[in-house]
Amino acid sequence: MNRRDFLRATAVGAGMGFVRQLSSVAAAQKNWDARIEVLLNEPLGVISPDIYGHFVENLSGVIYDGIWVGEDSRIPHVNGIRQELVTEMKKIRPPVVRFPGGCFADSYDWRDGVGPIDKRPRRTNFWFSGENPQAPPSHRYDPNRFGTNEFVEFCRLIGAEPYLAANLRSLPAEQFYRWVEYCNSPAGATTLADERAATGFKEPFNVRFWGVGNESWGCGGDFTAQEYAVEFRRFTTWVPDYRHELAFIASGPDGDNLEWTRGFFEEIARKGSRQVDRIYGWALHHYAWNLSRGKTKDWVAGKGDAIKFDPVDWYELLREGDRLESMITTHWRLMEAADPGHHVKLVVDEWGPWYRPGSELTAGDQLEQLPTLRDAVFSGMTLDIFNRHPEKVGMGCCAQLINCLNSLYLAHEDQFCVTPVGHVFAMYAAHQGGQSLRTNFSAPTISYERDGSSAWFWGLHGSASLQGKTVVLTAVNPDVAKALETQIILQGGAAKSARATVLTAPDMHARNTFAARQEVVPKSENVPAAEGNLRFQFPAASVTKIEIQL
Ligand code: AHR
Repeated sequence: MNRRDFLRATAVGAGMGFVRQLSSVAAAQKNWDARIEVLLNEPLGVISPDIYGHFVENLSGVIYDGIWVGEDSRIPHVNGIRQELVTEMKKIRPPVVRFPGGCFADSYDWRDGVGPIDKRPRRTNFWFSGENPQAPPSHRYDPNRFGTNEFVEFCRLIGAEPYLAANLRSLPAEQFYRWVEYCNSPAGATTLADERAATGFKEPFNVRFWGVGNESWGCGGDFTAQEYAVEFRRFTTWVPDYRHELAFIASGPDGDNLEWTRGFFEEIARKGSRQVDRIYGWALHHYAWNLSRGKTKDWVAGKGDAIKFDPVDWYELLREGDRLESMITTHWRLMEAADPGHHVKLVVDEWGPWYRPGSELTAGDQLEQLPTLRDAVFSGMTLDIFNRHPEKVGMGCCAQLINCLNSLYLAHEDQFCVTPVGHVFAMYAAHQGGQSLRTNFSAPTISYERDGSSAWFWGLHGSASLQGKTVVLTAVNPDVAKALETQIILQGGAAKSARATVLTAPDMHARNTFAARQEVVPKSENVPAAEGNLRFQFPAASVTKIEIQL
């Protein structure tokens, strides 16, 4: 085995703590705590910008209050859409936004959300029963003010592509075709195109991404994998494409349930391999929620707190999130049986931590939680996972954009703030469309005590990409206490200059709120280059981007 094969076989995997420890001995001999080796001549594939995507569901304060403030609002807006959100989102180059759910999607009739805005019906929201009785009426009874037109307009304002999730549970396939027709049929060609034009949108929206059901093993219809595959085939047969390629995304498993994936693909392929080619993406959802330290698998009892946590909770959350990497690789391998050419990409269209209620900045907002520095580190780690698997991951959507789980923004009436997660997205945008590079990280494994038994987590990890003469290196140091003096080696090139942007804070609980918007903000500094390589100290509990000019 040569050096390159040795590195490939050892240092990349997150679960190989013993190798990291060996490497860290070598690093320590030269007074380094850690070492990063970027292999400029080992491209892994182009990082799809779509992995930096978002998810907005018609759920509590996400749409009404978060995005839609209304055309008559005193809050600055563009045609009813919150102006400050638009301004902030432009900074992160959002590629794609998924709407209207989530679970809500399989209860939604798209026809309710089109036509003259003041004539649209009010409907009971899917999330009604979990709403606080004090919540605004729009959270319980959907006023349908924000429908297809408004969503597409929001996407246009921020420069993103729309990704619509269709209702497979409670509407017939015909309505799916009609929604496609409403969005994509040429101006003047159909009655629905005329309806679109009558409300100000003459030209087709050309929506490419279409989800066909959501969590169809659960809220999306309680199907078996085989039943769902039959429905998926039916829904996606002969959908009019108006000469624009449609990308169908199928509902993947509950967590890492491989049986769902196996069952779906076996059933789909029973009608021939061309059926598989009709699928653009296989949706994986990964929420890190179980902070019970192995005590329970109960969805409610297992949750932790968003803002009250100790270092063990910090590492436990990251361990839960880190499982996404093996989910990606195991599902990818499994799909090979039905899809040997890997036509179908993984679409991780819901991801993030999910805590118990109690940290909402706006009292009563269902599923809202207050992101801290821990969630920023979690988010950097997740985006690095995507970057490391460019050939597998076609899209990612963080759940959810505003006033919800792993939100980039929080807003209520005229108050607004960018969370630490939002800053991570701004930092990582530089990877979009870059060529992912094989990169080896070596650092001492972090050991900690998990209720009487020993546990560990990796010491430093990240990803790198190349565009022209610029290398973008991102890394998280998950150690809550220890900074890492790190040697950064560029194999196959030399650094002329480099600049780091670091997101950290003295307190691991640090967060931004309406009253204190700048508690966690990125800071930039130059990184000295010596003989083409770099030295950098990654602070404890940090997310870092280093942009290196070759
Ligand atoms: O993001 C909240 C919910 O989580 C979504 O509606 C659903 O798809 C998932 O279970």
